[in-house]
Amino acid sequence: MRMGVLGSGMTAQAISARLAELGHDVVIGTRDADKLRGWQSSNQRVLIGTLAETAAHGEMVFNATDGAGSLNALSMAGEENLADKILVDVSNPLDFADGFPPSLTVFGKDSLAEQIQRAFPMTRVVKTLNTVTARVMTHPLEVADGDHHVFISANDVEAKSQVVDLLRSFGWTNIFDLGDLSTARGAEAYALLWVRLYGAMNTGMFNIKIMR
Ligand SMILES: NC(=O)c1ccc[n+]([C@@H]2O[C@H](COP(=O)([O-])OP(=O)(O)OC[C@H]3O[C@@H](n4cnc5c(N)ncnc54)[C@H](OP(=O)(O)O)[C@@H]3O)[C@@H](O)[C@H]2O)c1
Repeated sequence: MRMGVLGSGMTAQAISARLAELGHDVVIGTRDADKLRGWQSSNQRVLIGTLAETAAHGEMVFNATDGAGSLNALSMAGEENLADKILVDVSNPLDFADGFPPSLTVFGKDSLAEQIQRAFPMTRVVKTLNTVTARVMTHPLEVADGDHHVFISANDVEAKSQVVDLLRSFGWTNIFDLGDLSTARGAEAYALLWVRLYGAMNTGMFNIKIMR
């Protein structure tokens, strides 16, 4: 499948590499291609594009940009290039303006996922993977043999189902369907707890499991 991954950081790189490994045709998108030249030399199956080229290429597009810049990045990607496509939003609206620990740029009665959906009404936004570090997103079996949960939220049930299939191809077996996109409020707010757990354990290689 043609995949577009918006972002140049560790998350975009991890997702792009994994998608290419799984046989997808991947373009990774940034405002500054030079940032990715070194990485691409060892990931030659992934091509580098502008944000607009990357969104145009993808049948499915990932938002792996800094949450505070995501709306700008998506607007540079272009509404027309994102229309009718699934946008897998893995971002967190973390606000580091006052340093560590971060706060959120949006919370409570709204979420970044919902802001994106309102700004791009023709796009099928699916929130997932934002509650784990990049390596766990793409290689869930490396933590507790995969015995932990990832969450998924979307208004579009069919889009959600396609992303569930993709998550399974990454190795995810426990995929917790939270419901519509408003449920991303909780998944995004969890990032505040995640950074504290990271601080306490000094590793991002962990996740949570829902038990009852
Ligand atoms: N790191 C993780 O393990 C992890 C885990 C869960 C969720 N996430 C989420 O995944 C996203 C990416 O995280 P990351 O750590 O890989 O990288 P990051 O440093 O949070 O984001 C870097 C990317 O954001 C883009 N960006 C920043 N400000 C922008 C703006 N104003 N307009 C357009 N683009 C802008 C940069 O674009 P250029 O390349 O053009 O400079 C770059 O591609 C974040 O939302 C993060 O919260 C990350």
